[in-house]
Amino acid sequence: MSLFITFEGGEGSGKSSQARALYRRLNTLAIAALLTHEPGVTRLGKRLTRLLKWAKDTDISPAAELLLFNASRAQLIAEVVKPALAEGKIVVCDRYYDSTTAYQGYGRGLDMNAVKAANATGSLGLKPSLTILLDIPVEEGLARKKGSKDRFEQEDIAFHNRVREGYLKLAKDEPQRWLVIDSRQSKTKIAQIIWQRVTELIKKR
Ligand code: TMP
Repeated sequence: MSLFITFEGGEGSGKSSQARALYRRLNTLAIAALLTHEPGVTRLGKRLTRLLKWAKDTDISPAAELLLFNASRAQLIAEVVKPALAEGKIVVCDRYYDSTTAYQGYGRGLDMNAVKAANATGSLGLKPSLTILLDIPVEEGLARKKGSKDRFEQEDIAFHNRVREGYLKLAKDEPQRWLVIDSRQSKTKIAQIIWQRVTELIKKR
């Protein structure tokens, strides 16, 4: 019963902890699942993440950023995601190509046709069955972040607002695939909403 479920959201939206919670719940019920995240995980992905999130002495143009995220994605899909789906697992992925549309497309302002083409190549054509958006006002999300700031967290509020609006537009354009959740609710409540939708999907399979 393979399913591909992705989590999306801006900085401090709590999507990673909800992705983990969903994975743990599936595990507890002995439902075969895999938790992964973008960028990173593969050896190539880890190298690219270091650059994409932390490069200080290396300029990365918006178009280069678009292609590097998709290079990392192509490797992850081929090496990790597709094999797990082929084994019938539910794959829970923390960020996917909608992050690229939101950050590089809406945030950086790259041409959307270029973003779509790069995402199509990077994803090897794999589309999520469900995408969960944890939505939070930008200032609140950024305030939740502790520690040193990566290249994206250092961007100004206007950038993060474009990302947030971009996500909401994507969700509105494709309501069957997206579940939008107000991230200011309690963690337990959010997990409950997610679980309800996931069980509906599992039953349909
Ligand atoms: P995270 O591991 O905290 O989610 O950080 C990943 C950062 O990379 C986050 O700021 C969003 C950004 N990002 C993009 O800009 N485009 C992408 O395609 C992906 C996957 C992430």
